[in-house]
Amino acid sequence: MVVANSRGPQSLTGLVAELGPRAAAGTVEQAATAGAATLLSIPIGVYSALPAGLLDGRIVLDTGNYYPSRDGRISELDSCPSGSTSPPVLSDAVTSDRTAACSAR
Ligand SMILES: NC(=O)c1ccc[n+]([C@@H]2O[C@H](COP(=O)([O-])OP(=O)(O)OC[C@H]3O[C@@H](n4cnc5c(N)ncnc54)[C@H](OP(=O)(O)O)[C@@H]3O)[C@@H](O)[C@H]2O)c1
Repeated sequence: MVVANSRGPQSLTGLVAELGPRAAAGTVEQAATAGAATLLSIPIGVYSALPAGLLDGRIVLDTGNYYPSRDGRISELDSCPSGSTSPPVLSDAVTSDRTAACSAR
């Protein structure tokens, strides 16, 4: 497993130690392409900051929820008939249809 955030791998030393020897910290690009699938769990307001094409062809598990009171109003989502919050609606980082919304319980 490769984890990434906006501050860079050096900021994830403690988390990686906690996760154990099968975890590593990387850049956003390294985390996005590691393993068989990518878990995308960042605020939906920053999806558009992801590099275009970053997740092309990847299986993406997207945890994102749209809460206007928290995220601000996002016109693409307000006008989406399906109410989707999936990355293709918000970002050029994902252009494949291999994206599934997922939730933790
Ligand atoms: N479906 C569910 O069951 C479920 C459960 C929990 C959360 N969620 C949803 O998941 C989303 C994230 O929630 P959260 O509570 O984990 O948010 P959070 O606590 O704000 O965590 C955001 C993470 O995203 C990283 N990040 C922000 N901008 C980034 C960028 N441009 N590139 C790479 N990483 C970036 C942050 O790294 P830095 O700290 O370095 O900026 C941080 O690690 C929300 O939409 C939330 O509603 C869904």
